[in-house]
Amino acid sequence: MKALIVYWSGTGNTEKVAKAIKSGLEKASVSVTMKRSIEALDEDLFGYDLVCLGAPTHQWLPAKQIREFVNAKLKEAFKKGYVKPNMSPVTGRNALIFATYSGPHTGKNEAIPAVKWLGQFFEHLGFKVMDEWYVVAEYHGRLAESTKGSLGDIRGKPTQEELACIEEKTTKLVLSL
Ligand SMILES: Cc1cc2nc3c(=O)[nH]c(=O)nc-3n(C[C@H](O)[C@H](O)[C@H](O)COP(=O)(O)O)c2cc1C
Repeated sequence: MKALIVYWSGTGNTEKVAKAIKSGLEKASVSVTMKRSIEALDEDLFGYDLVCLGAPTHQWLPAKQIREFVNAKLKEAFKKGYVKPNMSPVTGRNALIFATYSGPHTGKNEAIPAVKWLGQFFEHLGFKVMDEWYVVAEYHGRLAESTKGSLGDIRGKPTQEELACIEEKTTKLVLSL
């Protein structure tokens, strides 16, 4: 099996999750290509058994760098005729979405639009979204957002234990494919 992980990370949180997913996939003997979004533009998403896409949440949406990646790949898919009306999932097209967020104001609700936005991308391409992972993560450089936000003290998140759980969940997910 082949998997592609595409992500962007400004302060390292999403990258930690991407690396945990990579380890989880490798434990299941999956061959993994992991790239930051800007380097993944020439990747053929249809050439993989599983595509994992991860972003930090910025103002309730995926960070700009990931939105740009999605917009470019969607345009390409339209041109190639992969996007059709009344699209249902095509066998062999599987996706995993992950978003990190700090939720200082309204908690998980802040990340839901980001994840759903990414989900629509995959569904338009005929991918089945296998799972959506919302990962609470420290807001680096903004102490109040990491200590007095709606999720309380989130400094140090995601922790090593949380990353180990993500790794384990990934292995389980891929074995179910
Ligand atoms: C410009 C900016 C905007 C952000 N907006 C939100 C937001 O609307 N909701 C939220 O929950 N977290 C928000 N965050 C926090 C990030 O989503 C969170 O810290 C994330 O884990 C950062 O990931 P990264 O380290 O991979 O860049 C924002 C962070 C930045 C820098």
